[in-house]
Amino acid sequence: MTSSTATPEPGPHAAKTTHAAAGGDTDVVAIAPDSAVAEGILADTPLDEIFGADTEAKAKDLIARYPMSRSALLPLLHLVQSVQGYVSQEGIAFCARQLDLSDAEVSAVATFYTMYKRRPCGEHLVSVCTNTLCAAMGGEAIYKKLQTHLGSEDAPLGQEETAGTPGEPGSITLEHAECLAACDLAPVLQVNYEYFDNQTPEKAVALVDALQAGKKPAPTRGAPLSDFKGAELQLAGFFPEDEATYRGDVDGPSQAVETLRGAQIANERGWTAPATQDVPLPVLPAKEGEKK
Ligand code: FES
Repeated sequence: MTSSTATPEPGPHAAKTTHAAAGGDTDVVAIAPDSAVAEGILADTPLDEIFGADTEAKAKDLIARYPMSRSALLPLLHLVQSVQGYVSQEGIAFCARQLDLSDAEVSAVATFYTMYKRRPCGEHLVSVCTNTLCAAMGGEAIYKKLQTHLGSEDAPLGQEETAGTPGEPGSITLEHAECLAACDLAPVLQVNYEYFDNQTPEKAVALVDALQAGKKPAPTRGAPLSDFKGAELQLAGFFPEDEATYRGDVDGPSQAVETLRGAQIANERGWTAPATQDVPLPVLPAKEGEKK
């Protein structure tokens, strides 16, 4: 264990020391900016050069949607991912400045959720479900196949590693994921969070080959494929204003026969869910009086 009295600053201020108690679940990137710069995780660029006026305006728009500013943190983190393809230390500082939070508070949130990536992602993020049902149905085999197909037999791609140069066309970041909430269609994978159901190793290889060749195969259901940054902008809550473009971006068949089977059987048998009691929502304080 090491210790230091210095607090590392975000952005271009490189720390001269590393800091204490980096366990397996500690965000080492957040506390050791020197190595982060070396790995390209921490760009040596001022915040306003990375996140320009448009991103700043979007951030203000997001914050205005919530009674309490800090509630906008999760979409703000998606917004910074839509710009950089990951949550850099500058992204953390950007969110912190927007919300009047500390970098540590933002970092604690960004490192808790797996959807926030701490290293630059590829043009596409491929998430293979290896949770119980998918694993039993072949999810592990799909993941292993993609590891060696996107890497090599000798150097299979690791968790959240990228084949190609992150952000460049055809680059793919691979991860295994916990239950993707499509167990009835196992084994499944997602590309930029869009579903490809009932997969096999062969289908998955054909899919990533198409992505690397610049194609965008149609997901089994859901919206058409965009890219990781585009998906992140949608997750932040921004869509085209033009109705036709918006519909083209988000519309698609959303249900599968397997998923509706239970509802169909309940309908046929006249089963209904027990009624719930309406509980009034608590009254929130006015935004001006928000406690910091
Ligand atoms: S176990 Fe894979 S979607 Fe649930």
